[in-house]
Amino acid sequence: MHWTKSMAACALTLSMGVALAARGQTAPAASNQSNLADWWKNAVILEIYPRSYQDSNGDGIGDLNGITQRLDYLKSLGVDAIWLTPIYPSPQVDFGYDISDYEGIDPQYGTMADFDKLMDEANKRHIRVIMDMVMNHSSDKHKWFLESRSSKKNPYRNWYVWKDGKGETATDKGAPPNNWRSGFGGSAWEWDPTTRQYWYHKFYTEQPDFNWNNPKVHQAFKDIIAFWLKKGVAGFRFDAITTLFEDPQWRDESPVLDKNGNPEKGPDGQIELNDTQTNNLPAVHDVMKEMRASADKGFKSATYPGTRVFIGETYLPNIAELAKQYGTADHPEFHLPMDTQILAINKMDAVAFRTRLNDVETGIGNNVPLLVFDNHDNPRIDARYGDGVHNEDIERVIATVLFASKGTALFYNGDEIGMKTTPPERKEDVKDPVGRAMWPFYKGRDGERTPMQWDDSANAGFTTGTPWLPVPPTYKAVNVEAEQGKPDSMLTWYQNLIEMKKSNPALAQGTDLMVDTENTRVLSWLRQAPDGTQVLVTCNFTADPQTVNLSGGGVKGMQAKTLLKSPAGSEPGSLDKVDLPPFGVWIGQVQ
Ligand code: GLC
Repeated sequence: MHWTKSMAACALTLSMGVALAARGQTAPAASNQSNLADWWKNAVILEIYPRSYQDSNGDGIGDLNGITQRLDYLKSLGVDAIWLTPIYPSPQVDFGYDISDYEGIDPQYGTMADFDKLMDEANKRHIRVIMDMVMNHSSDKHKWFLESRSSKKNPYRNWYVWKDGKGETATDKGAPPNNWRSGFGGSAWEWDPTTRQYWYHKFYTEQPDFNWNNPKVHQAFKDIIAFWLKKGVAGFRFDAITTLFEDPQWRDESPVLDKNGNPEKGPDGQIELNDTQTNNLPAVHDVMKEMRASADKGFKSATYPGTRVFIGETYLPNIAELAKQYGTADHPEFHLPMDTQILAINKMDAVAFRTRLNDVETGIGNNVPLLVFDNHDNPRIDARYGDGVHNEDIERVIATVLFASKGTALFYNGDEIGMKTTPPERKEDVKDPVGRAMWPFYKGRDGERTPMQWDDSANAGFTTGTPWLPVPPTYKAVNVEAEQGKPDSMLTWYQNLIEMKKSNPALAQGTDLMVDTENTRVLSWLRQAPDGTQVLVTCNFTADPQTVNLSGGGVKGMQAKTLLKSPAGSEPGSLDKVDLPPFGVWIGQVQ
């Protein structure tokens, strides 16, 4: 991933629903049970940031028992699976992405018994649990790295990436081996005075990169994956997966050039670098094929049946590169590499959305797209797509694209109630180290990691203690309790979309075809089920009212029954004249 650039970009960018007649309570469970091999193909997956989800013991930090307490809520949302960001023992420099033991649970989050209980209770509700798998790097406190840095002769030395400096003498460490930069700023090389070499870290200094040219590293991760699969987890989200390998000749990264051919500078004044020597090297595919083959071998469990999925954190430059991440029929890699092209549009641009959705419709063969708009590394939807006036309506448009398009949908906790990005106002309050290092150009990722807003009591029901990050002031109105059961709330909008994705044959299994394709202001598409059922979806991407003609083409009829719309308003009389209010959404079944 081009981490520095995208973070810089983040730094710079800173109704009414018609309730469905009846929301089926059994749909998610039924789909989960009835098709164990394919459960992930039209699935809804929720990313949970455990640290901020629900604290059960008053220490101000979310934990596993807290998640267990909220499983009934998760069931009412209709999610098929939850992906937990890392809960392993960790010094928490990168809030869990610096792992010091891959087969344990950090005491801040609970115990292995708490994890087993979460698995058990989730399973009772037909909710699957997906773990984060960080194979690019460990914590510098992991015993493997402590061994590795202890001596050049240590058997773990070549588990990590070590290199001599340039021009080193007995008294001078010389310069780093090349110009590679950490995604979090500064050189990607850190000097070790004991063994007099540099170690490579794509991310924080405390996150040394593994040496994936060492077969022992491969075996270690196959064992870790097997450990969790035996416990019954439904799969893994592979973190920073494209950065496993580095250029074997250690060549410098080239500068990013602007349109006049001059080196581009980031907001901090540093020249931006390409990442061709340290990202998306072809050998990653061999590793993923190997991991997938190993994971596919077995671990069948009567208690936790069904396909175990591989999800990829795949920030890639184009659809062709994304397509490669699926592997081939004989040598599969990811089931669901994230389509981050769509995540990265970052503006309400109907044409860009159409292009990206067409790309994934046509560019990945028969594979299943994984659409995603939000996560714990990017400002929330309001900050990237909102206009400050219609943010709620815009959030509904984004949710509609996510859940009414073909494929599997991944969303981030809090989006379903319309939580807003709330970055720290003072440098001394910043928790994410990159936010302190790059202040004020970039304030880090605290703004999208604030505690989940459950109700309007003190600390939004997240904790009885002092929350590790402040609860945003919006919690009085924006919270689960206030929105539950309210026909016009964001939560109801999400629940209705998810229920429709599961129960309407056109949305659950239908093809996806863009319609009214010359329109630069409104995005419309047609879903058609194998039985011929047709559903039209149309979203106004502007702050002005629009009227669209959705008739003709493959649409078999002139009338439609409204399934869902936002905001409230008149029903379209005929499909050749559908009126949409600013950032309005209309979904209808063709009659
Ligand atoms: C991924 C994670 C991010 C983390 C980084 C390094 O991008 O999503 O939170 O900081 O990897 O592990």
